[in-house]
Amino acid sequence: MTVKRIGVLTGGGDAPGLNAVIRAVVKAAANRGCEAIGLEDSFDGLIVRDRWRRLTPRDVTGILRVGGTILGTTNRSNPFAYPVDGGTRDYSAHCLQTFHELELGALIVIGGDGTLEIAHRFHTLGMPVIGVPKTIDNDIVETTSTVGFDSAVAFATDAIDRLHGTAEAHHRVMVVEVMGRYTGWIALYAGIAGGADAILVPEIPFDLEIVAKWIMKRDTQFRARFSIVVAAEGAKPAGGRAMVAEPEAGGHAEKLGGIGAFVAGRLGPLTGKECRSVVLGHLQRGGAPTSDDRLLATRFGARAIELALDGQFGQMVAFQPPDIVAVPLDSVVGRTRNIPAEFDALRTARAAGICLGD
Ligand code: F6P
Repeated sequence: MTVKRIGVLTGGGDAPGLNAVIRAVVKAAANRGCEAIGLEDSFDGLIVRDRWRRLTPRDVTGILRVGGTILGTTNRSNPFAYPVDGGTRDYSAHCLQTFHELELGALIVIGGDGTLEIAHRFHTLGMPVIGVPKTIDNDIVETTSTVGFDSAVAFATDAIDRLHGTAEAHHRVMVVEVMGRYTGWIALYAGIAGGADAILVPEIPFDLEIVAKWIMKRDTQFRARFSIVVAAEGAKPAGGRAMVAEPEAGGHAEKLGGIGAFVAGRLGPLTGKECRSVVLGHLQRGGAPTSDDRLLATRFGARAIELALDGQFGQMVAFQPPDIVAVPLDSVVGRTRNIPAEFDALRTARAAGICLGD
């Protein structure tokens, strides 16, 4: 069947570069004679009446460099367990019906693990979907980068740069808490790029006595009276658990948070130094995408349209340098891409004198 109309939606937490993907999808579709339909607020566009709109190349002009998503998003509206009156209801059949009523021939789903899992479930129900991986966390398997990751790293690196001056001026330890959920990609990359002295990631449970000793050694041996510690929000002490700011409720994922303050609170007495913590939080998801993210987003969007027009559904576009490839969603969902124990960048960090807390 020839695809003439293609839907596109953004789901889960926003990330810099979402608009760049939408733009590429709309332009590539138009160039192949297809109409693009934007669904608003993730799958709500298939659930709630009139939450969709036609997108022409004119509508997406100028959004390449704009953060957020012109379509809106949510991480709280799984159609298979949609929140209604304090409970949940399955709206998947309704979504399939709307999909057909809108005469869509394909749906491009731009999302992270949760959204891609929903896309995969729809694929098993016969909906022709194609996934595009986005998340600042970079925790999707089969792709070395997700849209938004590079921008988050760039922001966190800049924040660490700024903290260096004040840390050094006051001879303090500054602990920077970054996002990443259960993985430490942002912490590791921004920590190395920003010249952190210690990086704590979920993949390597930490011992703060070891971190404190390193901070003291910097002082006594290198006369560096300040230190910068980057802590991933999912980092955990050896034998302990990640710190949860908001527990899982009603099908919503738990929110992590608090590790920065915890680490600063413990390092104070252990080092005898003044310690402060800073939480970068949602600032990491804001602002313009970096050039790498714009390029990745544009390549992903264009490739997604190629797949749709070739009838290759149930696939996710992925970056396996130097190529953009298609991988089955089946092989992606339910898995998390953690930092491998033998990853070169971990060795690089140690070689550069960065304490990893172990
Ligand atoms: O998955 C992206 C992310 O920003 C995580 O790094 C973070 O743990 C989570 O989303 C925060 O979610 P919310 O925006 O719902 O607070």
